[in-house]
Amino acid sequence: MSFPFLADSTNTGTTGVKTILVTGGMGFIGSHVCVSLLEENQQVIIVDNLCNSNKKVLSRIEKITGKVPAFYSVDLMDEEALSSVFKRHNIDAVIHFAALKAVGESSQIPLSYYHNNITGSLVLFKVMEKYQVLNLVFSSSATVYGENNPIPYAEHFPLSATSPYGRTKVMIEDILQDVFKANPKWNISLLRYFNPIGAHPSGLMGEDPNGIPNNLMPYIAQVAVGKRDVLSVFGGDYPTPDGTGVRDYIHVVDLASGHSKALQKLFAAEFPSIDAYNLGAGKGYSVLDVVKAFEKSSGKDIHYVIVPRREGDIAEFYADTTKAAKELDWQVENSLDDMCRDTWNWQQKNPNGYQS
Ligand code: NAD
Ligand code: UFG
Repeated sequence: MSFPFLADSTNTGTTGVKTILVTGGMGFIGSHVCVSLLEENQQVIIVDNLCNSNKKVLSRIEKITGKVPAFYSVDLMDEEALSSVFKRHNIDAVIHFAALKAVGESSQIPLSYYHNNITGSLVLFKVMEKYQVLNLVFSSSATVYGENNPIPYAEHFPLSATSPYGRTKVMIEDILQDVFKANPKWNISLLRYFNPIGAHPSGLMGEDPNGIPNNLMPYIAQVAVGKRDVLSVFGGDYPTPDGTGVRDYIHVVDLASGHSKALQKLFAAEFPSIDAYNLGAGKGYSVLDVVKAFEKSSGKDIHYVIVPRREGDIAEFYADTTKAAKELDWQVENSLDDMCRDTWNWQQKNPNGYQS
């Protein structure tokens, strides 16, 4: 592993500036969080093996913030390489995004998902403990609420999963509960994201899926830009107002500010704790609501066809956001129209994502 050149990579501890290690920081959500941390003048160190991201993200981060984070092309499962990063930097907290995340794919290659997501996390937590870096923000998901809870989902509900991907999130949450029980000096925030969409308002960063998008928003954006002919709407017979699936969409920039708030709480805590928070807008929109909003923002017609339901999908879910509002002092600021506007801006400026 080669070390990047860094003039000011270690925290002196005198300025209130914190050094945050971001695993998976080159990805869709991680890159937006890195921008927001750098804008708050925090030091950012990214560890990412680039298995689902592009190195160009670094120059985009620099264009937006005028700063270059330290970047290590390291796989989390490489304990030696990861330890070297911890040895070199005086890290105050870790935000752990790095994971494989495609729900459908996880049923086809479950061992890869368990290996990458679970082993990667175990190695990370072990190295964190070794270097006594015990502040952690973990990327969890609304998928941990499974399919049997009432809506809106609240943090105290029982957890379950319907896919190997979802099970990795439930397992890692359980592992962290055990880790905290064994050593209550750990200070942990479990952030359960609802449906992150949108892009940086500059149009320089956004979601860049490989191949055919699995998720609704990138698919709609590719139809709008002419890369795909027609959107398949999975199910028109759900017990929802228009028969299509309802989700809680959240702008990725709002999601990023939720991470800053979670970090602030960890750093300010008198006593360490482990807490889960829903990061969502607290409001549900149907697939057709999103299609209409995107048509309005882009001025394009989105051709769609209603097809049978997708296996594993549920009719409707959205977040109870009371706990995040109260304990993190956080709420979303962007509307569905804002999410569509920024996605369209990104898609138009980068029709082939970071390859453009
Ligand atoms: P992403 O794929 O864009 O980013 C993940 C990053 O992690 C990628 O850059 C990838 O290269 C890296 N990575 C994966 N495995 C790694 C490993 N072993 N070592 C080093 N780097 C590795 O995904 P995203 O949408 O930004 O999601 C970030 C996190 O949020 C993930 O944990 C995901 O499960 C979670 N999440 C995402 C969503 C969503 O809809 N995007 C919803 C809920 C939760
Ligand atoms: N949908 C379509 N057509 C598509 C894609 C999606 O109709 O081409 C529908 C789905 O059926 C669903 C809605 O659009 O009703 C949203 O689907 P996404 O695939 O965009 O998102 P999901 O709610 O299925 O899942 C996402 C992430 C998961 C995460 C979950 C909760 O992919 O990782 O949100 O956070 F767990």
